[in-house]
Amino acid sequence: MKGLILSGGKGTRLRPLTYTRAKQLLPLANKPVLFYAIESLLAAGIEEIGIVVGDTHAEIEAAVGDGSRWGANVRIQFIAQEAPLGLAHAVKTAQPFLGEDRFVMFLGDNLIGEALAPMVRDFAAPDCAYRCHILLTEVENPSQFGIAELEPAPVPALVGEAGSGTPAPLRVRRLVEKPAVPPSNLALVGIYFFDSRIFTAADAIQPSARGELEITDAIQWLIDHGHDVRAQRLRGYWIDTGKMEDILDANRQVLLGLEPTIDPTAIISETSALHGAVTIQAGARIENSVIRGPAIIGERCVIQNAYIGPFTSIYHDTRITASEVEYSIVLEHSQIVDVRGRIEESLIGRHSEVYTSTRKPRGHKLMLGDHSRVGVLPS
Ligand code: DAU
Repeated sequence: MKGLILSGGKGTRLRPLTYTRAKQLLPLANKPVLFYAIESLLAAGIEEIGIVVGDTHAEIEAAVGDGSRWGANVRIQFIAQEAPLGLAHAVKTAQPFLGEDRFVMFLGDNLIGEALAPMVRDFAAPDCAYRCHILLTEVENPSQFGIAELEPAPVPALVGEAGSGTPAPLRVRRLVEKPAVPPSNLALVGIYFFDSRIFTAADAIQPSARGELEITDAIQWLIDHGHDVRAQRLRGYWIDTGKMEDILDANRQVLLGLEPTIDPTAIISETSALHGAVTIQAGARIENSVIRGPAIIGERCVIQNAYIGPFTSIYHDTRITASEVEYSIVLEHSQIVDVRGRIEESLIGRHSEVYTSTRKPRGHKLMLGDHSRVGVLPS
């Protein structure tokens, strides 16, 4: 089995943070979202991975490298997609890399809290009866996702599933992309299992109303042409981090699972207190501060006379002085100095500065990028 991660496209929904950065590189607990996708595949034994890239290819390639940071056997290659013309177009673009192998496709901005290994084992079995396997989860806003309608009765366990412990997959009847009137609330999670028949399907379909070759249409083509398409409900969490409101929640989920570590090069003053699961990365300095986990403080950060509360990630080279931050993500090289009132539920972009202004006239002095959002305290 091979892995295919889709990291092309434009991160318009995450603006302003993604004007200059690939959305797949936004860090959760100080690690790019994309790395979690890579590590999910590796944990399932898939070590040959192709990453589809678009405009932001240089930054993604620089961050990921050739895969050797994950081990000598890991091979990662990049596949350039000419434009974000749809998920099925991305699959077609990757055909030379995938060849005749079965593969797992993973959307590079998706995060799951469930191991893929049992599903990979079933799908890789030579006598696996189905050609495509998708994962589903119930959502409150089905019009924002690909939605599945299932055959009413679950199918009996299939060859290849024996002993895997996974529930018998359900048979899919119909799929529809972002429907105005959803037939169910079962959304397609951004993880798909395919064999080479998907290329025939992707060649046969036409672009949708939004001008993209939709993977849901390609899977529908498989169903319409008599191929067995199965689904399974995801048991762990799933977050599409491509949607801004989900990023802080995704950060919370990842921090909850993080094994706390204090790097030996970190300096923590005696007047500081760390409570709960707190990770301090290399070269960070904590002076006279309280950090309540789960939280992570990045490399070379300086935290002075400050409070960092639960579910907060402070990325590298950031300084927080005489201020309080909770349930937030602060990106690299930022400064938060002398801010009265706690900063909460905030996403602070790279090289940002938040400070108390003593300059006259008194007032909020803002320099915000396009599409920024600021919530000030009521007077
Ligand atoms: O997140 C799950 C949803 O993902 C599914 O429920 C939908 O059925 C599926 O179409 C997809 O919808 P999105 O609108 O959220 O997809 P998005 O355009 O955000 O692209 C997902 C990832 O694929 C993202 O990392 C960018 C990458 N991509 C996207 C396109 C359109 C590519 O690499 N190439 C592309 O052409």
